[in-house]
Amino acid sequence: MKSKNILSLVVIFAALAIISSQSLAKDSQIDKKVNDLIAKMTLEEKVGQMAQYTIHGANDIELENQIKPLVKKGGVGSFLGLAGKNTPELRNELQKIAVEQSRLGIPLILGYDVIHGYRTMFPIPLAQSCSWNLDLAQKAAAIAAKEASAAGQDWTFAPMIDIARDPRWGRIAEGFGEDPYLCSLFAAAKVKGFQGDDLKDPSSLAACLKHFAAYGAVQAGREYHTVDISKRTLWETYLPPFKAGVDAGALTLMTAFNEINGIPASGDPYLLNDILRDQWGFEGFVVSDYNSVFQMISHGYAEDAGDSAVKGVTAGCEMFMESKASIEALPQQVKDGKLSEKVIDEAVRRILKIKYRIGLFENPYVDTTLADKVTLTKENIAVARQLARESFVLLKNDGLLPLKKNKIKTIGIIGPLANNKDDMMGTWAGSGDPNDAVTILDGIKQQIAPGTQVLYAKGCDVDSDSTKGFAKAIKVAVVSDVVIMVIGESAELNGEAHSRSNINLPGVQRRLVELVKATGTPIAVVLITGRPLTISWLEENVPAILVAWHPGIQAGPAVADTLFGDFNPSGKLTVTFPRTLGQVPIFYNHKNTGRPANKKDRYTSKYIDVHWTPLYPFGYGLSYTKFDYSNLKLNKKKIKIGDSLIVTADITNTGDVAGEEIVQLYLQDLFASVTRPVRELKGFTKLKLNPGQTKTVSFVITKERLSFYNDKMKYLVEPGDFKVWVAPDSVSGLEGKFTVTAN
Ligand code: GLC
Repeated sequence: MKSKNILSLVVIFAALAIISSQSLAKDSQIDKKVNDLIAKMTLEEKVGQMAQYTIHGANDIELENQIKPLVKKGGVGSFLGLAGKNTPELRNELQKIAVEQSRLGIPLILGYDVIHGYRTMFPIPLAQSCSWNLDLAQKAAAIAAKEASAAGQDWTFAPMIDIARDPRWGRIAEGFGEDPYLCSLFAAAKVKGFQGDDLKDPSSLAACLKHFAAYGAVQAGREYHTVDISKRTLWETYLPPFKAGVDAGALTLMTAFNEINGIPASGDPYLLNDILRDQWGFEGFVVSDYNSVFQMISHGYAEDAGDSAVKGVTAGCEMFMESKASIEALPQQVKDGKLSEKVIDEAVRRILKIKYRIGLFENPYVDTTLADKVTLTKENIAVARQLARESFVLLKNDGLLPLKKNKIKTIGIIGPLANNKDDMMGTWAGSGDPNDAVTILDGIKQQIAPGTQVLYAKGCDVDSDSTKGFAKAIKVAVVSDVVIMVIGESAELNGEAHSRSNINLPGVQRRLVELVKATGTPIAVVLITGRPLTISWLEENVPAILVAWHPGIQAGPAVADTLFGDFNPSGKLTVTFPRTLGQVPIFYNHKNTGRPANKKDRYTSKYIDVHWTPLYPFGYGLSYTKFDYSNLKLNKKKIKIGDSLIVTADITNTGDVAGEEIVQLYLQDLFASVTRPVRELKGFTKLKLNPGQTKTVSFVITKERLSFYNDKMKYLVEPGDFKVWVAPDSVSGLEGKFTVTAN
């Protein structure tokens, strides 16, 4: 190797050594400051740092008589839910008491649910995941962080990265779908977006991976229900996104409400110590979910408040969100000898280190003039519009879309979600203002050709039996050249504490569509929803279906852009749409079974009353153009364990409009020490293609992509045959085979 290369290597290594020694030095400086501080703290002050209380909706009397005195005596370390127009000022007021009037001057850390935007409300996370656009998702998180931190927040309780395979569960809307690989990538992107490159940057937010763990596996999709899964399922399906988030540098995690196999997550040392700290090396702190430490009594795992507190902090839960009784019982547990104060010290150490690392001691106050400059800017709104457009999934199109503006004399807009701002915001949009949203009706009005008549009828409510709006809707349909039906779920039907025992279109909406269809006017459905719905009747009866989820403040412009073809839809489903609820749970990366479903053979794994496949599979989504997959090639047919091989294929836009295609890479391990899924997503790329253009995609099949937890739960590659697909979705594509041999 030439001497100059050696020299450059030496320089690089020296630089790395300096950087790491600097960061180690910084850490040891922080360690020293934290240890010195802890040495001065009373037991009550230490427990105060572990306390997080909500301040949401606190009135002036509560503020003056309870909250401020508590801050002054060091009885609280964090608040959540500070909101409203004077948030920055109130934050500084409380912080001033903590820093300048309390005995030790330890700053507060303020947390908020900045889930998919702060004021600029982006599409719900499930929608964002269907864009498969990690960079844009990260950018949206960075914008949310800038807006939220200017408003006085330090910490977001996001990303929510619970894998969800059951659409009955209301919180499927908050996560990034059913696939561990894709959800892991979004977890990392969101952490980087929120936290940025410099934790002390005042425009960043500390991230919080939640809910640790397996909350999406609640039985029957019923909120807060029991989780009983195998260790293998926990590691293969539910943990990977959390590992990715920890590796991306997330500063905190939040425990889940549920138990896992008999142990509530907020008191589970296997989760919080063995996995999170001993195996993954996590150095931040864990906050419980809302009162979930105290709720270990209801679980039947803790005897009383004191026992719940001891079990929580001993297991590795450092901050108790709103578990007031548990927090207040904690000092006595130490005095009674039921808990060593050293355990409290370690919990407080983890909390204080994060407060130091995000700069709260050096810079505890927010610049109250900042919010107006960084909130709802043109750039932020443009990102909201683009992310909404890329999150839409075209489920069906018999050719009706895109609409030709100048060919429409009268367009009918019908449905309870067409002229609606609130529901466009989606679940967990507390800091947003629906007045910032553009309705789908207005979005269409803004873009329709001059002279075209726009007629509107609500038709019915989202979720009531009233049919009094039907007549007007039918009148609109009869005189329209085309009808856009904007139907689905309100935001209220999604999110926490909103599990549904059926996932049909709510209320009388389906009846409304039937009546509009009966007029003979062609219908395009825009489905507004936070979960997959059972819409087989729509699939069979209307020519076009676009799922727009809850698209955020730019709902109207983004939907209009798409309906009129100014944007060609490119989104792909990250959750499976079942044909019937009876199929749930149904997901793409299922096992083959010993009797894989087969039309000809009754005695195979299927139903007698519905086809065993989903209505729309994971990875599926149409475009206004067509993409042809051809020329699959593997550079090797056989590799040794540890070697890689390259898979390539050609993707051609065979249609007459430009478009984007999310090309997916799937693998199947055909034989192993444990059964393996029929397919697993292992990579993807999003291609822009002009009409007639061909691009070659290339994927490297690495050891990491071939690894899995074997029968001994060791993560490794086993020799054997594999199938590989380069595909447009999880059920089709170009198939190849290769073999991995032992070394
Ligand atoms: C809730 C949610 C959690 C949220 C917390 C604070 O109950 O489960 O996701 O971050 O309370 O609002």
